[in-house]
Amino acid sequence: MKALVIYDSVFGNTEKVAQTMGEALGSQVDALVLKVTDVQPEQLAGLSYLIVGSPTRAFSPTPAIKDFLKGIPSGSLTGVKVAAFDTRIAVAETNSAILSFLVKIFGYAAEPIAKKLQRKGGAQGVTPEGFFVKDSEGPLKDGELDRAAAWATQILM
Ligand SMILES: Cc1cc2nc3c(=O)[nH]c(=O)nc-3n(C[C@H](O)[C@H](O)[C@H](O)COP(=O)(O)O)c2cc1C
Repeated sequence: MKALVIYDSVFGNTEKVAQTMGEALGSQVDALVLKVTDVQPEQLAGLSYLIVGSPTRAFSPTPAIKDFLKGIPSGSLTGVKVAAFDTRIAVAETNSAILSFLVKIFGYAAEPIAKKLQRKGGAQGVTPEGFFVKDSEGPLKDGELDRAAAWATQILM
């Protein structure tokens, strides 16, 4: 059984989350973690599990993640269990009413990634999830890496 975790990261936080997920999955299946810009199309073949994660930037995944998702051939994820995650700021803690309002409307990166993976044929393995950074450049909030490991291994069930 092969699992692939694909991520993008600007400041390194999403990368840490992805690597932690890869380690957690790697104790049970053959797991590989790749930055989105390093993925070769043939690496999507023969997968049982695919997890894609992005920092939330302007309520969306990064352009590189969007391009990657667009480039996945239609139907090619049939039979693959998929899941999506993002990293994000804890809006409630910013005390910004405007930001809270915008987030309610536009959301985060994980949901649109999950939708796209399913549109390409994938079956949702775990509901989309966000992991919190304390500030724009990080670090991750305490406990988020443990939460990430637990979330990722749910896809194997
Ligand atoms: C230009 C920019 C836009 C951002 N937009 C959002 C946003 O819409 N929602 C959010 O929760 N966090 C936002 N953030 C915070 C990022 O989510 C945070 O930088 C990211 O989780 C860090 O992950 P990384 O270290 O992997 O890049 C933004 C940060 C930057 C620099």
